[in-house]
Amino acid sequence: MNNKTKIYLGDAKEVLKDFESNSVDLIFTSPPYADRRKNTYGGIKPEDYVDWFLPIGQQLFRVLKPSGTFILNIKEKADRGERHTYVIELVLALKRQGWLWTEEFIWHKKNSYPGKWPNRFRDSWEHLYQFNKTRSFNMYQEEVMIPIGDWANGRLKKLSETDKIRDNAKNLSGFGKNVSNWLGRNYVYPTNVLHLATECSNKNHSAAFPDELPEWFIKLFTKEGEVVLDPFMGSGTTVIVANNMGRIGLGIEIVKEYFDLADNQLRQNLFVAEPKDSYDKTKIKRSKKVH
Ligand SMILES: C[S@@+](CC[C@H](N)C(=O)[O-])C[C@H]1O[C@@H](n2cnc3c(N)ncnc32)[C@H](O)[C@@H]1O
Repeated sequence: MNNKTKIYLGDAKEVLKDFESNSVDLIFTSPPYADRRKNTYGGIKPEDYVDWFLPIGQQLFRVLKPSGTFILNIKEKADRGERHTYVIELVLALKRQGWLWTEEFIWHKKNSYPGKWPNRFRDSWEHLYQFNKTRSFNMYQEEVMIPIGDWANGRLKKLSETDKIRDNAKNLSGFGKNVSNWLGRNYVYPTNVLHLATECSNKNHSAAFPDELPEWFIKLFTKEGEVVLDPFMGSGTTVIVANNMGRIGLGIEIVKEYFDLADNQLRQNLFVAEPKDSYDKTKIKRSKKVH
């Protein structure tokens, strides 16, 4: 249990101003998506989204260590038969803000139920954009290795001559592989696609992460004792998982009901959060709009 884990009730744009510069190792978050959940939180218009996000992005840039990573989970909606471009515009605006767009992961939602639309199929995946401040950021790839799997039994049994050398791709793409490198290994590196079920029903928040999602990125980008921030923490999944993994979790949430969910959960884990009166001093009352 980590007694430095802390959660804040308020608007991330304001609360972050009190955080120290270069103090966070990993930011893992899912902000409200444009035009979604107007009656609970969010409801930011897609055309206003970049302007709404950028001041928060600037604070995130300030608080992240140069060796740290920012993972942004977001998905554009379809609007009048077209995908909206606000997520693409946000990525470009974050680049202009100084962020390097270093990688993109896909969260494949394994348990999507079927649906029918006239011009598209069920949305069954979301982006996780990776941004960094520098090109040399901390990454602990061995922490997320996976069992090599059954393919190795057949494929590695009879190696051809090309399997034993670096075999350059036939399409001259420059990619190559040496299959024999995997002989005798039990674990391999994963891909950038994560296959995880969604999880909402038992968390009282309509957009809660499955625990495995932040867990995977926390293992990949931090070590024990390091700081993990979720500026849109909702029911607190990232902070709780980080705390349980021996990291210092920091979370910010604007809706009191969700803040209380996270607070109760952290207290159940025998963690004593900041005294209640100090939250009340932040005087943040949630209005219907968040910007
Ligand atoms: C997509 S949800 C996050 C859910 C979270 N990942 C979980 O596992 O429960 C986004 C959250 O951001 C909160 N939020 C919206 N605007 C905010 C702001 N300006 N500052 C802090 N939190 C905000 C919303 O109330 C909502 O709970």
